[in-house]
Amino acid sequence: MKKDRQPAEPYRVKSIEPIRLLSLEEREKKLVGANYNLFKVDAADIYIDLLTDSGTPAMSARQWGALMQGDESYAGAVSFRRFEKTVRDIFRKKKVIPCHQGRSAENLVFSTILKKDQYVVNNTHFDTTRANTLHKKGIPVDLPCPAAYSQDPLPFKGDMDIVRLEQFIQKHGTEKIAMVIMTVTNNSVGGQPVSLANIHEVSQLCRRNHIPFFFDCARYAENCYFIKRDEPGYGDKSIREIAAEMFDACDGVMMSAKKDGLANIGGFIALDDEDLYSRIADLMIIVEGFPTYGGLAGRDMEVLAVGLEEVMDFAYLDFRVKQVAYLGEQIKQAGMTIIEPTGGHAVFIDAGLLLPHIPAERFPGQALTVEFYREGGIRMAEIGSLMFGGIDPVNGEKVTAKHELVRMALPRRVYSNSHYDYVAETSERIVSKKESLIGYKITRQAPLLRHFTCDLAPVNLERVKVEK
Ligand SMILES: Cc1ncc(COP(=O)(O)O)c(C=O)c1O
Repeated sequence: MKKDRQPAEPYRVKSIEPIRLLSLEEREKKLVGANYNLFKVDAADIYIDLLTDSGTPAMSARQWGALMQGDESYAGAVSFRRFEKTVRDIFRKKKVIPCHQGRSAENLVFSTILKKDQYVVNNTHFDTTRANTLHKKGIPVDLPCPAAYSQDPLPFKGDMDIVRLEQFIQKHGTEKIAMVIMTVTNNSVGGQPVSLANIHEVSQLCRRNHIPFFFDCARYAENCYFIKRDEPGYGDKSIREIAAEMFDACDGVMMSAKKDGLANIGGFIALDDEDLYSRIADLMIIVEGFPTYGGLAGRDMEVLAVGLEEVMDFAYLDFRVKQVAYLGEQIKQAGMTIIEPTGGHAVFIDAGLLLPHIPAERFPGQALTVEFYREGGIRMAEIGSLMFGGIDPVNGEKVTAKHELVRMALPRRVYSNSHYDYVAETSERIVSKKESLIGYKITRQAPLLRHFTCDLAPVNLERVKVEK
């Protein structure tokens, strides 16, 4: 019996999907065929897929039942009305705009609100939020709290730096700031939660300065769970009550519902401003669909209406957050450094610390993701200089990421602890031969979001030193 074993899953399996482990030789071939970019490996060739927690959940029996009730009418479908009611109840905004996923919500909001050279301030932009800001010629600014990148086991490392936000507003003036966004949980700093105290401070500052305050709330329920667990005064509140307090503090939300919507596709915008709603609705007819379906099928909206409620179940959230911590603890025991405390949806490994012989320009995070696939058929994501490095669009300089991380994202309700035990055992084997891992160079890349599609090739690190 393992120490600190968490309670068992608060659900049981109803249908299964076989997975298989290819041989080492086959995995080597797949890596070459994918130009060492795991996004290009077929899912059938993956044994355990921790690439993302987005769009990968297992649906509940209630969701499958709801799916059959999809009203596929073009305009004003019953399914939209059900979805709209659920979103209004939880997110407390009058106007609800369905979108096919989070980045389309971002695109619609930024296309409507953002003017050229205006700033978008975020606790930390997720990569698509950053890319959408840049795409509309805005300037993304991250203001994570000072503890965000420390190894201090503090409870709310996802917070925004309120002092720097105030200074930023004073320095640049409100006209230059299109909006402030709070990403909950703060994915890019390790899925760390944001406290309600911080949300209230940011909200008040924005309201005083008449700056729109939005949430990027892909993982809102996980954030609420941490507030309930760790923020003084909230232990007796329900997840729903905490969500209400959170969303009452903002002007609008953008959500990728592929996370805490417990759905395979979907997203939305919700807000109160009628004028802004009309402008977004006008635009979305051109790019996304009629405002009552927004790129989704009626059945998708039915599934979301159930998922957005189901995700607030305390037993589910408690199990999930503890399962992430369970995996994190095992990875640590295997000899890798992880971001602590573990957040709500993923374990982040510090590949820079594990592989100090591979410089940031040679992507230690990518070297580790490739090795996890080679060694165990496991897929995960690099969150380091491959994702965030390149040429800075503002000053034209070459940049590398602050941290070379690898993210093991846990799909919701999909894998059991025995799958995660296998991941931990694979980690141990990698640690035992870490000095033999080599770096990579990019051989082809797109101008934005390059990590999704770029090609890579292994690099002999001795030669790199000579080239420099
Ligand atoms: C915080 C956050 N915002 C936005 C997005 C983009 O959402 P989507 O993948 O649905 O476009 C993601 C996706 O992972 C995310 O984590």
